[in-house]
Amino acid sequence: MPEVKVLSKRFDMDNGHTLQGYLDSGGFAALRTALDTAPADLIAQVKDSGLRGRGGAGFPTGMKWGFVPQDLGKPIYLVINADEGEPGTFKDRELMERDPFLLLEGMLISGRALNCHRSFIFLRGEYLWPGVRLEEAIAEAYANGWLGKDILGSGFDFDVTLHYAAGAYICGEETALLDALEGRRGQPRLRPPFPAVAGLYACPTVVNNVETIATVPSIIANGTDWFRSMGTEKSPGPKLFCVSGEVVRPGNYEWPMGTPARTIVEESCGGMLPGRTLKFWAPGGSSTPLLTADHLDIGMDFDAIAAAGSLLGTGAMMMYSDRTSVVDAVLNWTRFYEHESCGKCTPCREGVFWLAQVLQRISDGQGRMEDLQVLDDVCDNIFGRSFCALGDGATSPIKASLQYFRDEYVHLIEHGRVPDGFEPHAGVVTQNSGHHRPPSLAVVGRS
Ligand SMILES: Cc1cc2nc3c(=O)[nH]c(=O)nc-3n(C[C@H](O)[C@H](O)[C@H](O)COP(=O)(O)O)c2cc1C
Repeated sequence: MPEVKVLSKRFDMDNGHTLQGYLDSGGFAALRTALDTAPADLIAQVKDSGLRGRGGAGFPTGMKWGFVPQDLGKPIYLVINADEGEPGTFKDRELMERDPFLLLEGMLISGRALNCHRSFIFLRGEYLWPGVRLEEAIAEAYANGWLGKDILGSGFDFDVTLHYAAGAYICGEETALLDALEGRRGQPRLRPPFPAVAGLYACPTVVNNVETIATVPSIIANGTDWFRSMGTEKSPGPKLFCVSGEVVRPGNYEWPMGTPARTIVEESCGGMLPGRTLKFWAPGGSSTPLLTADHLDIGMDFDAIAAAGSLLGTGAMMMYSDRTSVVDAVLNWTRFYEHESCGKCTPCREGVFWLAQVLQRISDGQGRMEDLQVLDDVCDNIFGRSFCALGDGATSPIKASLQYFRDEYVHLIEHGRVPDGFEPHAGVVTQNSGHHRPPSLAVVGRS
């Protein structure tokens, strides 16, 4: 199937972000249908569509909605995860900038399905421009009766609050997000209870990603068969893939799930930059295990990527060429995870710190051969043992790079420098770049 325009339908419009532009291009038709549909039927449609969360984990959206108890006598909240902290990911940003009403319509339909009347958008603090667009859209929607009391005379009330986050990767994790939204330090909560039962202010809460909710109007408007005509049996529908790195035209491109990575990179992005050959790539952000050029024909869907040993994650494809040192790229990400580890659990707080130290030592040309075993062991002691998936994600690029590019680590350790022909990786100074970097902390303790 060719590139599609469902979520990106208004990306090229000058006024797609205004209420008029939205209405002129078919906006809010799905909401009208939803207001005439019983909430349970809306949940059933989303379940039947097979929509899976676009925030990283791929959890079935309709199933999540079905977990919300309707009989607790408590308010039900909908929280939109617009934190978009995963390195390489920038799809929610473009969606909110160019089509903020699509998110609002998705929230209204989801609110109707869940019997929810109060919602929040937890927006990454640095996303000022998406914030401006959302503020304008929310104000326009309230002024014209698309938000607030008795929407379209249906008796359905729905409010939206935009919350600017303070800026921490961990606050994208849904339970840390809820703590942050409540005004506390953002750290993950113990589960159960799951947010569906006891989330925001201990009330039933659905947390969904921006793209997930922005997909809902198209399902209600066009039906589940239409939705399932794209993608694969277990990963249906369209998806925004954010491609970055050493390609000719980086950007957001919308394709049916299951489209081979090669098709996206070659047809949408114009391939790798002239003279460069693909060496490694991350299929869904830096928390997903790296793949190689041998994996380019794999379909970009949850199951095919998992079968190849990685994860679809957010669909953020980061493409690197033979000029990039994999060790430096991995060190760069590990420094990020070290900085962003929230400190709540020991494996992640201590383990990722040590991973960064050892990688830095190797990158500085001071590595020892036994460091490779240390990296492996520390990763194995974090994976599956940290409180949330941040720790697991931190180990992904390290484990995969050791699996596919062990020779490069060995070369760095034996020669004290990366092989000739590499360019310094963004944000990382390599030994052969001519820049001086202070030696890493001695591996005997923090100083
Ligand atoms: C460390 C960490 C960071 C995360 N960051 C985000 C994020 O920025 N945006 C997002 O939608 N989901 C993020 N998630 C996933 C959320 O916890 C949650 O699964 C998601 O919001 C659910 O929405 P979905 O079902 O629509 O995908 C993160 C998870 C972890 C462990």
